[in-house]
Amino acid sequence: MAHVLVHADKVAAAKAVSAVIRDLIVAKAKAGQTAVLGLATGSTPLPLYAELIRLHREEGLSFRNVVTFNLDEYEGLAGDHDQSYRYFMEQNLFRSLDIPKGNTHVPAGTACDHARTCADYETAIRNAGGIDLQVLGIGRTGHIGFNEPPSARDSRTRHVHLDEVTRRDNSVFFGDLARVPHGALTMGVGTIMDCRRVELLAFGAGKAEIVRRSLRSAPSADCPASWLQEHPACTFHLDPEANSRL
Ligand code: PGA
Repeated sequence: MAHVLVHADKVAAAKAVSAVIRDLIVAKAKAGQTAVLGLATGSTPLPLYAELIRLHREEGLSFRNVVTFNLDEYEGLAGDHDQSYRYFMEQNLFRSLDIPKGNTHVPAGTACDHARTCADYETAIRNAGGIDLQVLGIGRTGHIGFNEPPSARDSRTRHVHLDEVTRRDNSVFFGDLARVPHGALTMGVGTIMDCRRVELLAFGAGKAEIVRRSLRSAPSADCPASWLQEHPACTFHLDPEANSRL
């Protein structure tokens, strides 16, 4: 069963999750090990990334021994495209930390051989020792990463087609629906379920109904986030608006 924490607002939620990440990084460093983080894009994690940057700048938290794997990337967008998720991560987090660029992984949206690229991504996660902590947002379709409905419990990193609801929601960033890619590469539900710990963030009234479905309906491919009910260490971090239908 997933845990639910309701915070005063998204900044309070970001502080709570950043403290968990800080403690993980510090504990791993003490043990001479690498912390492996799974990261997300979208507007939801931005306050979290701002807080991680503050911890680095003001409290000396080092990311030298951190390895990251992002959930997903748009098909066809290169890392220097201003709507690619690689670009998003560089702008909103990586460039402000001391993390070595080679430690950061985002699926290659321009790769020709999707099957090979996705299998290699799974191998890279395994070779890093698996993901210690995965940060998630949630889309109004119930997607986690770009696992749109229907997405099976055991799905792995793969090429997917984006739901039209997701394309419309994300068209504000592209300025025009026609520019939003139709496909993406994403970690699978099974890839996410293998992460040792999952911290999902959802803010605002627009997420209230999908948060309710994710936590209250029986786990099924029709609402991919509902599979998280079966994760042994998953917390939903909500603001009061996102919690309003629970
Ligand atoms: P958002 O997207 O943070 O921009 O709301 C969340 C998601 O689609 O996972």
